[in-house]
Amino acid sequence: MLKRSIRLRLKKKPILWRYNFDGVRRPPVRKVLTGAPLVFMFFNFKRKKICDNVSEIARASGLRHIAFIMDGNGRWATNKGLPREAGHSAGAKNFRTVVRYCKSIGIEYITAYAFSTENWKRPKREVDAIMRLLDTYIDEAREEDDVEYIFIGDRGRIEVPLAERMDMLESMTKGRKYRLNIAINYGGRDEIVHAVNRAVQNGKTHIEASDIDAGLYTSACPDPDLVVRTGDEYRISNFLLWQSAYSELYFSPKLWPDFGIRDVDAAVLDFSGRKRRFGGLDREKNTDGRK
Ligand code: FPP
Repeated sequence: MLKRSIRLRLKKKPILWRYNFDGVRRPPVRKVLTGAPLVFMFFNFKRKKICDNVSEIARASGLRHIAFIMDGNGRWATNKGLPREAGHSAGAKNFRTVVRYCKSIGIEYITAYAFSTENWKRPKREVDAIMRLLDTYIDEAREEDDVEYIFIGDRGRIEVPLAERMDMLESMTKGRKYRLNIAINYGGRDEIVHAVNRAVQNGKTHIEASDIDAGLYTSACPDPDLVVRTGDEYRISNFLLWQSAYSELYFSPKLWPDFGIRDVDAAVLDFSGRKRRFGGLDREKNTDGRK
């Protein structure tokens, strides 16, 4: 009798969580739970957290620097019938969460694409909204006392009061444990041109790769190991062109405000399964004994 009542209850309100191949949980589908789905659910109902030792996995796979292309804010807002600015606001909120989480799993360097050299083409209202979010972010940044902030990009076009606040935050936070590069008025091509010009100004007549490395906005940090792009778009969009030569790329269909910490786990896990050869061969395949 008891068994029967349990079965009836299961039949009344059964929820079956679906999982993508990457372990991401999808919205529930209502179905009658019997047989195989019930067994599936029994083994999977705890998979909300993809794995318990993400920090260990990140460390063991040498993941120190993640760069994010935070795409999809506008669509997120439009899908909800909201103005695009609301999407950026939700994106900024999510950015805080993702940065804190990355720190908690031991990622030392984070780079985020907040505004590109091309984003000035957007309506003034949207540009102003992103700049205001940045201003607010600078206020709140003081709370993160273990983060060094660096704004990468051409500061020449940023309004003076905001640019001064950016300078101030950078000097206040120098030398801290984690480093967060926020790309504002940033373009990868622009950065390379800037690095070449700097080398020329320093008297170089023959430019080498090390001169470009030295002139990059990110010169003081290692190249990104992993570049994550959200928003179901599959391109680099002028982001870290020089630095991402050997970065692993991870694309997520999720819109940035929905890209949560479990999605970060999925990206880390995916990264840990990549074979990074940097143009060489696997060690064991180097038949002449060189490493
Ligand atoms: C791309 O989405 C996103 C941007 C151009 C801005 C990103 C800004 C934030 C996440 C908020 C501000 C950040 C900080 C650090 C305070 P999109 O607008 O192109 O989205 P769409 O492709 O759906 O239109």
